Amino acid sequence: MADPPLTDRRAGTPVLVAVAWPYASGSRHLGHLAGAYLPADVYARHQRLVGNRVLMVSGSDVHGTPITVRADAEGVTPADIVDRYHAEFVADWDRLGISWDCYTSTGTANHAEVTQDVFMRLLDNGHIDRRVSDQYYDAEADRFLPDRYIEGTCPHCDYPEARGDQCEDCGRTLDPEELVDPRSKITGSTPELRSTEHFYLRLSDFTEQLGEWLGTREGWRRHVLNFSKGWVDEGLQDRAITRDLDWGIELPVDDLGPGKRIYVWFEAVIGYLSAAREWARDSGDPEAWREWWEGDDARSVYFIGKDNIPFHTIIWPGMLLGYGGLNLPTDVPANQYVTFKGGKASASRGVGLTIGEGLELFEADALRYALAASLPEQSDTDLSVEEIGRRINEELVATWGNLVNRVLSMVHKTCDGAVPAADGRTAEDLAVLATVDAALVTVTDQIERVELRAALRTGMDAAASVNAYLNATEPWKLAKADPERARVVLGTALAAVAGVRVALSPYLPFTTLALEDVFGPIDAWERVEPTPGTPVSKPTPLYAKVDLDELLAGQPPTDQ
Ligand code: MF3
Ligand code: ZN
Repeated sequence: MADPPLTDRRAGTPVLVAVAWPYASGSRHLGHLAGAYLPADVYARHQRLVGNRVLMVSGSDVHGTPITVRADAEGVTPADIVDRYHAEFVADWDRLGISWDCYTSTGTANHAEVTQDVFMRLLDNGHIDRRVSDQYYDAEADRFLPDRYIEGTCPHCDYPEARGDQCEDCGRTLDPEELVDPRSKITGSTPELRSTEHFYLRLSDFTEQLGEWLGTREGWRRHVLNFSKGWVDEGLQDRAITRDLDWGIELPVDDLGPGKRIYVWFEAVIGYLSAAREWARDSGDPEAWREWWEGDDARSVYFIGKDNIPFHTIIWPGMLLGYGGLNLPTDVPANQYVTFKGGKASASRGVGLTIGEGLELFEADALRYALAASLPEQSDTDLSVEEIGRRINEELVATWGNLVNRVLSMVHKTCDGAVPAADGRTAEDLAVLATVDAALVTVTDQIERVELRAALRTGMDAAASVNAYLNATEPWKLAKADPERARVVLGTALAAVAGVRVALSPYLPFTTLALEDVFGPIDAWERVEPTPGTPVSKPTPLYAKVDLDELLAGQPPTDQ
């Protein structure tokens, strides 16, 4: 969605909507969509409509061992992998209507420059130093084994296929040396230890400051705050921020010699800053990014999955403190996991539907609806094709789709195919409009607290109130008995639908647009009376009902 020109954007709070950078190492699945991209988009769309100045940024995370391991497995170059999945993601976002202000990648020259600037500043400020340590080495392959090149048993949960950077099962971040029974991903052999020199971020410098900062966070999700405080309480470890790899951003200093790159988790988080700068440069005002990063009134909300929590609530804030002068996150509403028929959805393990597969089966808004209705905000949620289809049919189509359809059909038939005048409303009519107006206020409260499931529920309940109003007033009977009253009731129902449309618009961008002919564009968070006399033609249904039998016939017996 294009931003209005800078001159029009003076009012409102700058809100940075920062969204996890997806690894360009494989297709993303519906769990990623529900975990980060969809909630970020709903939040951003709402914030724009309440008049805030949203800058929504992310990009493809193109470095690190997730990419090189995949390239090795396929016998192609890392660049081949990155190009393939970056293109796929861009197409996915477009089909899903994710309204980025800037979606870029960590492969740009701008990102490398900003990363090197952050590195140099932290080095100059004494927050980075050099250390020699022993790390795993595959003698057969003649190379070090950073991060995902090593696998073994998780020391915390005994998961046998934990990776050197993280255990996918319990979610803990790991160092390769912690793995029990380590083995090389390249040759399967047992690695040996060899000494190597790396740069370290002195995260322990910030233990006290970060502890205090976390102690003053209000309104954060409890699981995010508890997890983060727990990490700080355990004592922050200094962290290696370079790797023995040849795929990644180059160091701005040559102290370590060749074959070393900046660690992906050091630079990917810098993407939030570099993308804001890229957006500013492209918008013609290269300094404009400062409003979101330096302004006292600016807010920044980071949409991520729970496996990324410490990088966003501790490490990135630590880097920002060391850099100085840039805003720390206002909120990090991390989501829990989406499981798929009981198993953790995972791109690398092939569990669950990819975004592309989801879009083959369901219309974009219908898919957005079903996922938003089951966002894992406080605990893991389980999805299946049946459950998505059921929600679409029994909720979206039954409540909202049918409401729009029957109101538009009746207006078309009973009101000479045009929006009727808004006069003559009774207390009963005004009551349903008041209900819708109150829902808009409630949705704003809920979305600002990032309770997006509840906010969707509020919008759907408002739709149900309009259905109840129709069942009580029965305009289809009035059409003959009292045509004048029928017009008033249908005009009221139309005005109520206009308000519900606004409440649901952050969730359902495509079908919101499809109703523009009758209701006009939405440019503020308020119910606007449809203009009397606007033509209302015979409607086509907003959503197709999902044929569950047909859908399930096309599915494998289990999704594991
Ligand atoms: N690429 C990481 C993942 O998919 C997320 C990176 S978020 C960032 O888990 F902030 F570091 F970019
Ligand atoms: Zn584990």
